[in-house]
Amino acid sequence: MKIKMPIKIDTIILEDNVLMAPMSGVTDVPFRKMVRKFGAALVSSEMIASRPTLDEYKRSKNSKNCSYKKESPLSAQIAGCEPDIMAEVAKINEQQGASLVDINFGCPVKKVVNNFAGSALMKDLPLATKIMESVVASVRVPVTVKMRLGWDEGSINAPDLARIAQECGVKMITVHGRTRSQLYNGKADWKAVRAVKQAVSIPVVVNGDIYDSSSAQEAMEDSGADGVMIGRATYGRPWAVKSISCGLQGLGFQTPSLLNLRDAVLEHYELLLSHYGVHIGNITARKHIGWYCATLPDVDEFRGKINALSETQKVSTEIKSYFDGLLQSGIAAIPA
Ligand SMILES: Cc1cc2nc3c(=O)[nH]c(=O)nc-3n(C[C@H](O)[C@H](O)[C@H](O)COP(=O)(O)O)c2cc1C
Repeated sequence: MKIKMPIKIDTIILEDNVLMAPMSGVTDVPFRKMVRKFGAALVSSEMIASRPTLDEYKRSKNSKNCSYKKESPLSAQIAGCEPDIMAEVAKINEQQGASLVDINFGCPVKKVVNNFAGSALMKDLPLATKIMESVVASVRVPVTVKMRLGWDEGSINAPDLARIAQECGVKMITVHGRTRSQLYNGKADWKAVRAVKQAVSIPVVVNGDIYDSSSAQEAMEDSGADGVMIGRATYGRPWAVKSISCGLQGLGFQTPSLLNLRDAVLEHYELLLSHYGVHIGNITARKHIGWYCATLPDVDEFRGKINALSETQKVSTEIKSYFDGLLQSGIAAIPA
């Protein structure tokens, strides 16, 4: 494999074409720090719901909790259905240091689509157009769009929406190769993304079910896309973006040893505590610890112990003693 392609998103040149996907409840500040530590050309925020965010911003007049200045380059993803509100929120995110603003036309979640946002906008191209026009006009940073193939099998319109996006001044399109009706079922159709690539001249990124460098290569070959976006493959593997990128370039990547993994878990835990405080930090950590250790022995018992603890010192001690036990039993590598 030898696929190394920088992606030029208007004024921003990313040396690497393997991008981290936005994921609500996952790609928060601590997770982004972990992904960045292992290496990623671009990180992405969680989805920002425009109206509640704007209301909160006006109430608190306080942007210090949401500064991206140390995270550059970062893509801030906004969702909503009101062009003016989305434009304002895009501007706030630009002021907070976002390098890109991404518009969400892909979220399949009922709460979002029932509010005519996310993938529901693929059923309303005039409103999607107004949103893109309004957001593009409001910021100087490049605006990108993330979409699905369409609402359902009978209404595949990603190429049409992509063409309109380009006309509106959008600078990159990411396509998750599923329809909204599919949710996360079935398999992402990378070949269907080719029609989007053929419809526009701006970069197109293919997304969905890419877990390693061979699936990344296959997705790029099937779609003709300029890059790949990686979501769930980063669960418990914040190095996945870097390792896929190295694989695509024909470079070696040293997967962290079990000792490195122990240190990563402890570091991520500390980041969660300092970002969220003890209560939310502990709750959030349980999910990540489960992912980090999913392929390790006796994980259910370990998770049970962690989930029962609330004192941070005890959690750290439990993590250390679990990993020390594995290391002493001769396990040094992370099982696939
Ligand atoms: C827990 C979770 C949260 C997600 N949140 C978002 C989001 O906030 N914005 C978005 O555009 N996509 C979101 N997605 C979709 C992912 O970005 C990605 O398109 C999808 O997971 C397919 O890629 P993958 O197979 O690499 O995970 C989310 C997916 C998951 C699993």
